[in-house]
Amino acid sequence: MQLIKITALAAALSSGVDAAVRQLPVPKSCSGVAAFRYQYKLETGWSAVKIAGGLKQVRTVVWDSEGNMLVSQNTRGVSVSTFGDNGCVNSTTMLISGNQINHGLAISPDSKTLYASSETQAWSWSYDPLTRKISNQKTIVRGMSTGIHSSRTIAVVPQNPNLILLQVGSNSNFDMASASASTGRAIIKIFDVSKAPSNGYNYNTEGEVYGYGLRNEIGFTADPSGVFWGVENSGDDFARTENGQRRDIHIDNPAEELNNLGDPTKVRNAWYGYPTCFAVWNPANFPNSGLKTGSNFVVTPNSTFNDASCNGKAIPPRLSFQAHSAPIANTFDTDAKNMYVTFHGSWNRQPATGFKVVQIPFQKLANGSYEPVAPSDSMTGYKDIFSAPNPGSCTANGLTMSNCFRLTAAAWDPAGRGLFVGSDNSAEGEIYLLTPPQ
Ligand SMILES: *[C@@H]1O[C@H](CO)[C@@H](O)[C@H](O)[C@H]1NC(C)=O
Ligand SMILES: *[C@@H]1O[C@H](CO)[C@@H](O)[C@H](O)[C@H]1NC(C)=O
Ligand SMILES: *[C@@H]1O[C@H](CO)[C@@H](O)[C@H](O)[C@H]1NC(C)=O
Repeated sequence: MQLIKITALAAALSSGVDAAVRQLPVPKSCSGVAAFRYQYKLETGWSAVKIAGGLKQVRTVVWDSEGNMLVSQNTRGVSVSTFGDNGCVNSTTMLISGNQINHGLAISPDSKTLYASSETQAWSWSYDPLTRKISNQKTIVRGMSTGIHSSRTIAVVPQNPNLILLQVGSNSNFDMASASASTGRAIIKIFDVSKAPSNGYNYNTEGEVYGYGLRNEIGFTADPSGVFWGVENSGDDFARTENGQRRDIHIDNPAEELNNLGDPTKVRNAWYGYPTCFAVWNPANFPNSGLKTGSNFVVTPNSTFNDASCNGKAIPPRLSFQAHSAPIANTFDTDAKNMYVTFHGSWNRQPATGFKVVQIPFQKLANGSYEPVAPSDSMTGYKDIFSAPNPGSCTANGLTMSNCFRLTAAAWDPAGRGLFVGSDNSAEGEIYLLTPPQ
């Protein structure tokens, strides 16, 4: 019994669904889909095809047990697409229409329950993947804070699908009050949907704290052991003040983060450091400090709290990304050999960075845990797969405008075609399929 359960869990975690999905070919192109709106560069051996265009800002892609693609589109709602035998989209309908829907979208492992969020609320629906119809809308959570970060990412815990994870970012660059988890900001909380009150949980006062001190953990996904991995957008405009001397360090610090968030059936109240402890990307900004990439630092060390004071208190990242990459979503390939992360791209770095998809090689340890192959102080623990040809010249006027794509969703295809990624460039929402070397 236990073995069967674990096998089913591994299947659910690796593909996002728990039933066998019809395998599909990789199309060379899809008729009726306009050309890529922006230029791109691919890692050797990879191929790219545009699967859908003309969408609103694509934010999240999930799959149901029939291999249908559900897409949250900011200010528009949630669409569902079926695929033809050629691997291209064959039909698309709006499943949920509503301009409050802005990012979060999740589906239970049995595909019978769908979740989506606005900035302030999360809802559930009963869903039938055969008819692609929803019913029975319920408010699950209400009263989430508003602020500079509006995405409210949702995930279902595969090993206990009654539990959902729901994230709220900080309400400013340095949200000092969020040092207390009771603010309900810079946090991921856990809610048991089977016990939700009829008008929904109050986000700030109910549920349990999974992790906090997470400035804006937009993406998180489970590895096959049920441990979640989150990607964090760290701070802007940083300066370091030591002995009264202020130095601008914002171009290369702080690091964006890949955090091991632990097993949500076990971990509670884990603290990741924000708004006090941050991670180093480029140690060159911290001369004679002994700090390495991924080490914790404080903006202004003082006699009672310095960089070392973070050790043992704030959980450091397991891997760091270049400052201002703006990671949005992460997903594992089959068997979790690699994680893929979409980088939305920067406004606070000159030259700009991001505007790409990166691959992080993972390994399974002898005790069954998963982790990146690279050590935590690595600056080379990931590589570009798909990127703007010249990211340094990509503009970022506002969150969704640019002369380059703004990459968001990342979802490994249960039908065997590869990695689906979304763009929320407000000029055109697009979805691309990236296929690894065969
Ligand atoms: C698309 O769906 C229609 C109707 O269900 C079907 O007849 C057609 O064969 C499908 N197209 C492809 C390419 O599979
Ligand atoms: C020292 O730094 C810590 C952490 O940044 C801060 O909370 C504290 O208020 C500072 N103390 C003084 C005296 O400035
Ligand atoms: C497995 O081993 C790694 C490396 O020693 C350790 O970090 C991790 O916590 C272990 N996992 C479990 C589930 O004990």
